[in-house]
Parts: sequence; structure tokens; C-alpha cells
Amino acid sequence: MVYNWRETINNVELGKVVEALRDGELVVFPTETVYGIGADAFNSIASKKIYEAKGRPSDNPLIVHVSDFKMLENCVSRISDVEKKLIDAFMPGPFTLILEKSDVIPNDVTANLNTVAIRMPSNMIAKTIISKLGRPIAAPSANVSGKPSGTRIEDIQNELEDKVFVLIDGGSADIGLESTVVKVIDGVPTILRPGGITAEDIRDLVGIVDIDKHILNRVLDNERVESPGMKHRHYAPKTKCVLVDIEDENVKLKKINEILSDDVCVIGFEKHRDRIHTQNFLSMGNSLEDVSKNIFTLLRKADLLGLKLIVIEGVPTEGLGLAIMNRLIRTCDYNVISKD
Ligand code: TXA
Ligand code: MG
Repeated sequence: MVYNWRETINNVELGKVVEALRDGELVVFPTETVYGIGADAFNSIASKKIYEAKGRPSDNPLIVHVSDFKMLENCVSRISDVEKKLIDAFMPGPFTLILEKSDVIPNDVTANLNTVAIRMPSNMIAKTIISKLGRPIAAPSANVSGKPSGTRIEDIQNELEDKVFVLIDGGSADIGLESTVVKVIDGVPTILRPGGITAEDIRDLVGIVDIDKHILNRVLDNERVESPGMKHRHYAPKTKCVLVDIEDENVKLKKINEILSDDVCVIGFEKHRDRIHTQNFLSMGNSLEDVSKNIFTLLRKADLLGLKLIVIEGVPTEGLGLAIMNRLIRTCDYNVISKD
């Protein structure tokens, strides 16, 4: 079942959504980053259903979504000055902070960690559901584990419909990539997953920022990670993908053209459409904001073409580019062409 709230929130349906969440059921809802598949964060059994619905590894903790600062404070046991500064600047918004958890958060939600990931979405539908429920909502991205995250209901309806009470359609997600995940380590904000709030934004605010080395690199066997999600395969279509990440634009386009054949498609910048010689060209737009907004839907569309290979054009790793490349490197399972 789908509720269409693109234009406005339907109050009768809102009542049903809240009731379902109180009963421990799952709901797919929009946020400004990607769609979430949510459950009452205080209900351990309901949270377990999320893991089942997604086929999610049980060691990968969920993000707890709150609608206000009071709710946030209730979920955590302490907030340092740096953490307070980050919260005040970036919440509500595409920003998740890892904090020491309080006892109200069940261990199943945090995969037995003593920390909890907290996010306050700015999306009106998400905010309204959480505040009406009066409790936080635990929610990972709405997709079967390993697949590209859902940024439009059309993309995820088939894969999730029979696993949830309802999917709420709030239109295309504004940002299109998941939130920036940050943990303050020894006073230094450390980015564990890049997103809409950039490293530059954090440095401008606090004066210092660290970027976890695994953001653009593979996690080696038995290597310790700050965030369990880093270890797992993500954002991957069924079709094999390759990322062409060459700084010189002419060299990059030449390389892409060399790989082309009839059973290959390309996801590239609109401005390069005429220079990439294929019928199977999927445009990711021109700005990094366009790429961020479109990429997950494009990966799903490319997959549906059923070809042999998806070639993806790399972007510079500045600003939002770091988040895009973090996802694309994993989409391609580290299959990256970076030299001529
Ligand atoms: O934008 C988003 O963040 C979306 C929307 C729905 O809010 N949610 C999302 O959730 O992307 P998910 O589950 O797909 O990603 C959560 C990430 C995972 O990489 C997980 O490992 C990490 O956050 N995480 C959660 N709790 C953590 C913790 N206590 N310590 C370190 N990392 C944590
Ligand atoms: Mg996810």
C-alpha cells in the first residue's frame, strides 16, 4: 500500500501510520536524504523486523531519528561542547552524530554498541510522523541490503511493499545521498560517511575535521572500523560496474569511449553526452547536486537495461563530490580506472 503525500500530509492516514508504528509495524517514509524504513526505536522487536525486511547484517546498527532536541537528549547520556556545536549548526538536516547512548535505546538498535547514531531530519513528513508518535524512529535507508538506497517510491515499492505496513510517497528525495555520519574522536569531528553536510562545512564550523581513511579505500580483512557499515557491500546494482576516475577530462572521455560496445551503458555528465559515443547514455545532470540527487535512481535504471557493463564517470572529491565518490567506489566494488 502507498499513501501519496506529495502535495500534503493526509491526517487520517497519518493517524494510521502512527498507530501502525505503535503496534510495532514498519513504515517507509521520505527524508531529505533518502527514504527510510522505520520502526519505533524503543521497540526492540520492531527494530528486529527492519533487519529481516532488509536482509541487513545484524552487526550494522540503525540510525535513530528524532524530531526535537528534547527527544535527542533523552536518547544519549552525554554531549560534549564540540558535539553541541555540531548539533546546533547541522540539525535538523542531512547530518548524523554518533553519541554515547542512554538506557532508553535497546541494544538491538545499536547492534550492542554503547553509542547511538542520532539524526534529526528536516523533511516535513518525517518530522511530523516522529513528533506525532512522540518517540524516535529507528530507520536505515529503504532498500534491500546491498542495493542502491531508495530516493523515489517507484524504485523501492516492489522490493519492500510486502514487508511494511505502508510506503509514504513524498516525491523525490531532495539530496539523494544518505546523511553525513560523524563521530567526535578525541575532540576531532571525524567523518565516517560523507554526505550533504560536507567536510568543508564542518571545518568552517569547528576549525578541524578528519576524514576516515576507509571513505575512499577498501576495508581490509580483520581491520577495525569505526562504523560497521563500512565493511559491508553497498549501493550495488546486479550488473557489473566500472568507475572511470581520471582528472584530465579529455583523457577520461577517451577512456570511456574505448570501453564502449553495444552491451555497455554510460552514466555521465549531461555536458559530455555528445562526446560519449553510445545510444545507452544516462545523464546524471551537470552539478554535483544533480549527481547526488539522481545517482541511485540512475543505477537502478541502468540495471534494468540488462546490459553487460555500466560505466560511470567519476567526479572530483571536493564538497559533495566526496560523498558521491564514496558511494560510486562501492557501487563498482573498487573496480576503478584511474589511469590512462
Ligand atoms: O540519510 C540517512 O542517514 C538515511 C535516512 C533514512 O536517515 N539512513 C541511513 O541509514 O542511511 P543506514 O542504516 O543505511 O546507514 C547508517 C550508517 C551505517 O553505515 C551504520 O554502520 C552507521 O550509520 N552507524 C549507525 N550507528 C552507528 C554507531 N553507533 N557507530 C558507528 N556507526 C554507526
Ligand atoms: Mg543504507
